Parts: sequence; structure tokens; C-alpha cells
Amino acid sequence: MGRARKNGSSSVELDKVPRHIGIIMDGNGRWAQKRGLPRLAGHRAGAENIRRIVKACVELSIEVLTVFAFSTENWERPQSEVRGLMLLVNHVIDNETEELHRNGVCVRHIGDLSHLDEGLQRKIRWATELTSDNKRLIINVALNYGGRAEIVSAVRQIMRNGIPPEQVDETLFGSYLQSAGLPDPDLVIRTAGEMRLSNFLIWQAAYAEYYSTSTYWPDFDEEELRSALAAYAKRQRRFGRLPSKG
Ligand code: IPE
Ligand code: IPE
Ligand code: MG
Repeated sequence: MGRARKNGSSSVELDKVPRHIGIIMDGNGRWAQKRGLPRLAGHRAGAENIRRIVKACVELSIEVLTVFAFSTENWERPQSEVRGLMLLVNHVIDNETEELHRNGVCVRHIGDLSHLDEGLQRKIRWATELTSDNKRLIINVALNYGGRAEIVSAVRQIMRNGIPPEQVDETLFGSYLQSAGLPDPDLVIRTAGEMRLSNFLIWQAAYAEYYSTSTYWPDFDEEELRSALAAYAKRQRRFGRLPSKG
């Protein structure tokens, strides 16, 4: 049986609480459309919601929260939406970093930084450096992130380093990914009902539990998160083995 740890108001078995949650924050556009608002209004509401979920994750003693903010494929959207999203990211970093820092949250980034605007690159570096020693929660922001691109980039680096093929195993490979040092996600949540990964953590989530809800991301609140955690706690993770007895 797992040890218990204090989790907000209730005590939950330690092995039933995910260490690492990944969230595919989908449905901002549909949320806005439903209200007759422009898509960017949905993205703004979605960005605000991150604060609420970060706070809940801190209270629940989650170790790592990875949020999918912008995929390598999202560049294919209309330029005005892409520009709006990038401005929003700038704005969120400006407005939220210091409070995250005060609350002991460590900000990390995964994805290709080099193709982002230079000002944004600087801001991301500033936020990650400022908060790098914080221990309460790691918020790992996947921005200009694609699982396939991440894997290709790891392969290139391994080859550049001249690593002999027989030394390449899963542990070594994982150490070349941007998620190196983080536990694999235990639970991947997707909002807005789609049942696909859309190139999110395709290596790391090999044995993650999946949870999909029809709720659009801006409406995904603490109660929804608790429902996802309750569903997760009921899952039996087998990792290819037979069910454990007792
Ligand atoms: C998710 O919301 C946010 C990003 C992909 C940046 P969407 O913009 O994909 O919202 P829908 O899927 O169109 O409703
Ligand atoms: C996935 O959502 C990417 C993010 C949430 C940032 P998309 O809306 O881009 O995914 P698809 O196009 O429905 O697969
Ligand atoms: Mg979408």
C-alpha cells in the first residue's frame, strides 16, 4: 500500500497521486465561438485559467505540470492568431513570473526556442533562470513544442556527440530530451473532447494514463482537475505486467 500524504483537505495515497500531469489545453477557439467572441478572446481566457490550475496543483502537491501552449504545427494557423498568441505569451510572462517565483514555482520550457522572436526568447530565459531553484512545483511550458521535433533533435545531438550505437539505450536517449531530469508524465489530460495526442510528449507519455473531458480549457477548473485525479486514482497501471495482488 502507498504512504499517505496530505493533499489539500483530504489525505490521498501517495502512489495514487500523479507526480507529473501533462495537459493539452484545447478548446479555446470553440469556447470563444460559443460566446460569439473572437478566437483570441478564448486564448486570453485560456491563459488566465493556467493560474487557477497552477494554484490547484501546488495545493495538491503535484511535482510537475506540463502544459501544451503552442505546437510546432500551430504555426500553420492564420498569422493574426499566431501573432496574438505570441503577444499573449509575452504578456503572461510579464504578469505572472514574479508571483510564480514568490510561490516557489519553477518555470521550465520545452520546445524550440530558437525560432521564437528574440525578445520572447530573452523573456523565457529570464523566467526560467529566475525561478530555477524553486521546489514547490515545476511548470513546464511546451511552447513551439512537438514530440517528433524533440526526438529528431535528440538523435542529432547523440550523433554529433559521436555516441557509439551500442551505448544508446532508453535512459541515454531520455537524457537527450528536453524533459531530462523530470519524471515521465503519469497522467495526460486533454480538454475539449479530442482523443489524440497531437504530438505531445510522445516519448515520455508512453505509459501515461489518458483522461479526456469535453470541457473547454478556459472552463477547466479545480473541480474538473479533481475529477481527473479521481479517475486516475481508480486506474490500474500495469506497465505490461500482470495485475499486482492485494
Ligand atoms: C488550444 O485551443 C490552444 C492552442 C492550440 C494554442 P484551440 O485554439 O486549438 O481551440 P479549438 O480547438 O480551435 O477550439
Ligand atoms: C494541440 O491542440 C496543441 C495545443 C493545445 C497547444 P490543437 O488544437 O493544435 O490540436 P489538433 O489540431 O486538434 O490536433
Ligand atoms: Mg484545438
